[in-house]
Amino acid sequence: MKIVVTGGLGFIGSHTVVELQNEGFEVVAIDNLSNSSIEVLDGIERITGKKPLFENIDLREKAAVQEFFKKHTDVVGVIHFAASKAVGESVENPLLYYENNVNALVYILQEMIKLPKANLIFSSSCTVYGQAEKMPITEDASVQPAMSPYGNTKQIGEEIIFDVANVTNLNSVLLRYFNPIGAHSSAEIGELPLGVPQNLVPFITQTALGLRKELSVFGNDYPTEDGTCIRDYIHVVDLAKAHVIALQRLLKEANQEQVEIFNLGTGTGSSVLEVITAFEKVSGQKLPYKIVPRRSGDVISAYANTDKANDVLGWKAKLTLEDALEDAWKWEKKIRS
Ligand code: WQD
Repeated sequence: MKIVVTGGLGFIGSHTVVELQNEGFEVVAIDNLSNSSIEVLDGIERITGKKPLFENIDLREKAAVQEFFKKHTDVVGVIHFAASKAVGESVENPLLYYENNVNALVYILQEMIKLPKANLIFSSSCTVYGQAEKMPITEDASVQPAMSPYGNTKQIGEEIIFDVANVTNLNSVLLRYFNPIGAHSSAEIGELPLGVPQNLVPFITQTALGLRKELSVFGNDYPTEDGTCIRDYIHVVDLAKAHVIALQRLLKEANQEQVEIFNLGTGTGSSVLEVITAFEKVSGQKLPYKIVPRRSGDVISAYANTDKANDVLGWKAKLTLEDALEDAWKWEKKIRS
């Protein structure tokens, strides 16, 4: 069965392609290589022995999207990762985010609803919750006004999918990720942050390797135990496996509603200082860091209630924060060797 993975050479996309191939799916990866590299295809092949079909398409080009779906009429599912995802950049350049994250989704949906089966797995984010009142966060927690254009594009994407499902054959699962980190244990694929990393873990591994002088901890005056922000860091391989399970749910028509929502996290919150301590343990080296003022837009705490994913989806994260940091560290050393 042919599955399209948009953003298939990206961080979460590439790990999901591996898990799809492990389950025997035929995969067509689409990527415009704006935040990934073609070598990722070889990394996937080294893990699974099978190079996925690949098409270099910019999903902002409506004609290119139409062309693609005319060619691949045997597609039974689409996992849509392709999007710009840097919160800070989205504030500076909102139109890039609305064009890339919203227009592309519209063009894909316009083609999908012409297929006999329209099964979409949508890459959403816990960012839609903003600063939720209650921890851990459940799927029925209210969606707060977005704190960035990036977050807004995820909220808009979810709303578009609900509206389209209302009047078409579209079936969809919205997966709200918490904080994806780590890399495949083979160190054949991982996170390729181009430029200065915005996210915590790639900045940690680059600092540990001496590529960065020290980590800046954005504030230790939050109302948490050690004063630093709390997040739910989930191993990217656990996250990838959840996508395959969600897709299989739609293919078996086991979904209870046309659109279903699941939080994907470990259910455990870790503070920035706890991540640093865990990294020092797995790497065996001290991490240089300094406390600096808070980063605007950061929420104090966000970690998932995973009951629905566990009970309904039948998925549970198996890998720990230390597993993820170990794999991230192994990957960083590999790509810089
Ligand atoms: C984690 C914690 C920072 C860097 C964002 C998006 C989310 C998703 C993941 C795409 C925070 C602190 C970070 C640093 C630090 N992106 N930090 N020094 O902001 O929770 O989530 O990325 O889907 O949608 O919102 O992740 O890794 O940037 O930050 O102290 O150099 O680490 O303040 O508390 P975040 P992050």
